[in-house]
Amino acid sequence: MSKKILLGVTGGIACYKSVHLCRLMVKAGYEVKVIMTPAACSFVTPLTFQAITGNRIYINEFDAGVEPDIIEHVWLAGWADEFIIAPATANIIAKIAHGIADDLLTSTVLPYKKPIFIAPSMNVDMYANPVTQKNLALLSSFGHDLIDPNTGEMACRTEGKGRMAEPEEIFDYVFCKEKPLSGLKVLVTAGATAEAIDPVRFITNRSSGKMGLAVVRQAKALGAEVRLVAGLTSVGTEGFDTVKVQSALEMLDAVQKEIAQTDILVMAAAVADFRVAEYSETKIKKTDEAEITIRLVKNPDILKELAPLKKNGQVFAGFAAESDNLEVNARKKLAEKGLDMIAANDISRKDIGFETDDNEIMIFSSDREPFSTGKVSKDTAAEKLLLFARELYGKKNGSV
Ligand SMILES: Cc1cc2nc3c(=O)[nH]c(=O)nc-3n(C[C@H](O)[C@H](O)[C@H](O)COP(=O)(O)O)c2cc1C
Repeated sequence: MSKKILLGVTGGIACYKSVHLCRLMVKAGYEVKVIMTPAACSFVTPLTFQAITGNRIYINEFDAGVEPDIIEHVWLAGWADEFIIAPATANIIAKIAHGIADDLLTSTVLPYKKPIFIAPSMNVDMYANPVTQKNLALLSSFGHDLIDPNTGEMACRTEGKGRMAEPEEIFDYVFCKEKPLSGLKVLVTAGATAEAIDPVRFITNRSSGKMGLAVVRQAKALGAEVRLVAGLTSVGTEGFDTVKVQSALEMLDAVQKEIAQTDILVMAAAVADFRVAEYSETKIKKTDEAEITIRLVKNPDILKELAPLKKNGQVFAGFAAESDNLEVNARKKLAEKGLDMIAANDISRKDIGFETDDNEIMIFSSDREPFSTGKVSKDTAAEKLLLFARELYGKKNGSV
């Protein structure tokens, strides 16, 4: 019996690409039923999808009498083997994130029991808006499978991230994608630690947390069970299984508690090397003195502290943010910290690294020539890093 696919189409420009996606699925022998939102019908006609699928198109939740023996939203949710929403507007993403069920598509989402493949598609600013990012993080935390939009020229004549993945990419993602990390537990640290000076001041490192969060998203997409230990981040961590920490000592404590249940550890956090020796319980007052001295003491190196707890089968991956001598410094850290692999990036470059959406990392390990991810999105860099970690895990545990 052929696989049954439910395709949700919402009101974005990329509806025309969805027609091609639908055709690819029909050609592959799948049975496809389409739910369109009323807004989607302004972009392409239901007749187009009807002609391609040979099935009636579902639009109105209250089409009483068309199929009187079924309650459509519940029946469709039970019928589908896979549920794809492409394009997914900012609106539908927000509605699903908050459990709204005010049309046939959203009413079908709630009773559907498996993860839904969601392909966001929108203008670059709509996509970058923190509320959209928060909603996407929520969808991801509910287990839905987000198909990352592409970066490039948009129909609205802007350029950036938000263009729906190409139909072929969506098809491959849904039907050809393996879940190589399924059954594995991945622990990720992200963001910067903050070392308090007094109740209002602290010393920290520059780190947006974007790279660590990309690792979290990708590890989930690759099927892992993921836990995040997060310091200060400028990107939302809502919706992920997160332990929030402030200082390096708190981060060490949180990671030590989790490490026994971890298969792959990815330390992407920027941990402060030093903390303030004498914390002031009260706010340090402004005085007439031209200078003050704050004494710093060394923080423990989290990876070195973890080394004695490391089990044979575990894979530890670290990051090295370097401004010079990338290879020498990365190799030194790899050896000194008992790491299996290290991802080094050149922070002197303005186009990658801090606060940017892109990165170019060079991955070093003891048993393979280093390789570069090339300049790619942080999500793609994270995926490559995780796939390499999975390869090392396979070698250690005899399951390549
Ligand atoms: C010409 C045009 C193009 C649009 N393109 C998009 C888009 O690509 N992504 C998006 O999120 N919203 C887009 N919108 C806005 C949505 O159509 C609007 O938010 C609508 O309420 C979405 O409804 P739905 O999510 O129920 O389909 C567009 C609107 C117009 C008029």
